[in-house]
Amino acid sequence: MSFIPINRPVLGEEEKRAVLSVLESGRLTDSSYEGGRYVKEFEGKVRRLLGSRHVIAVNSGTAALHASLLALGVGEGDEVIVPSFTFVATANVVLAVGAKPVFVDSKEDYNIDVDAVKKAVTKRTKAVIPVHLYGYPADMDELIEFARSRSIYVVEDAAESLGATYRGRQSGTIGDAGCFSMYATKVVTSGEGGMVSTDSDELADRLRLVRNHGMVHGYDTKHLGFNYRLPEPLAAIGSVQMDRLEGFISARERNSRYVLERAGEVEGAEFTQDGADRRHVFYLLTLNLRKKRDSVLERLNSRGIGAAVYFKTPVHRTPLYAKLGFSKKRLPRAEMASKHVISLPVHPGLSGEELERVADEFVAAASSLLK
Ligand SMILES: Cc1ncc(COP(=O)(O)O)c(C=O)c1O
Repeated sequence: MSFIPINRPVLGEEEKRAVLSVLESGRLTDSSYEGGRYVKEFEGKVRRLLGSRHVIAVNSGTAALHASLLALGVGEGDEVIVPSFTFVATANVVLAVGAKPVFVDSKEDYNIDVDAVKKAVTKRTKAVIPVHLYGYPADMDELIEFARSRSIYVVEDAAESLGATYRGRQSGTIGDAGCFSMYATKVVTSGEGGMVSTDSDELADRLRLVRNHGMVHGYDTKHLGFNYRLPEPLAAIGSVQMDRLEGFISARERNSRYVLERAGEVEGAEFTQDGADRRHVFYLLTLNLRKKRDSVLERLNSRGIGAAVYFKTPVHRTPLYAKLGFSKKRLPRAEMASKHVISLPVHPGLSGEELERVADEFVAAASSLLK
């Protein structure tokens, strides 16, 4: 019985050929302000998908978020509102620029609660980072309207949601900056990698500076920056993957709808990311189990199904943030979610037989344990 992982990249001959052509060219990276040939090609494809004015490639989603905060001038003395129910990078980048993360609760769809954001705002609030968790867009209109009225920047953490849409707009193009991840298991991968999208010429310029030590010509640094450049072999992989994006998303949707239809037989398993005004890209298909989540997880894993939990601990309760004094805050929905969510494999690499196994095993485990 083979093990079915929660996510697995789909890589083929074209990706191999693309990497080989970079190796043959001998240009593995390009430290110019604009970036190398494959970086520009990859950026161009993401920009056309998003319809945004600028897209800047960097070497991880974390770098995309960190660079965005630096480019927006967020720093010491500032507060940045973040959901606690997310991957740690969303909050870590706030610490990295010397600002204070202000954790807020999520809603039933696991995304940031805009009412909680309104209550958390202070004179020091400089930015808010909504996360489109699991590939499902957060409620953006009300958040943007509120943020604009208070001159607060909106940096979208779209690490998991490339290709998702909210009321006809691509996720990551609605705020001041949108940050994507191209990590190995993401909807589109370059191994490691990230992108920032923005319509602001000024911000795009600063992002390019942050990506490259603040340098334009020679070694004269104009802005605090780092080495956040994406290597050419990785950009070449990402560029090929972009041509396959729609196929990947459609397969994720199809697989998820099939599993959801089957999961409908299970009482006590709930799916809460189904708004008609947005497109979910199903980076993860995540269900809420009324009880026995850990037993279901264990049973599935023992049967070769790589079901997984994102995230078992809300960020404000992780050891680092507890040490920093953030863990006393009550965020009941984030805490509930971390006890009840389970994600099932629906990636495009699944064979029909594997998909059937995922659905059969989930229905069997959940029906017997949730009784
Ligand atoms: C919500 C979220 N934010 C940020 C990141 C960071 O992206 P990366 O792993 O590419 O640094 C990830 C992915 O790992 C993520 O899922």
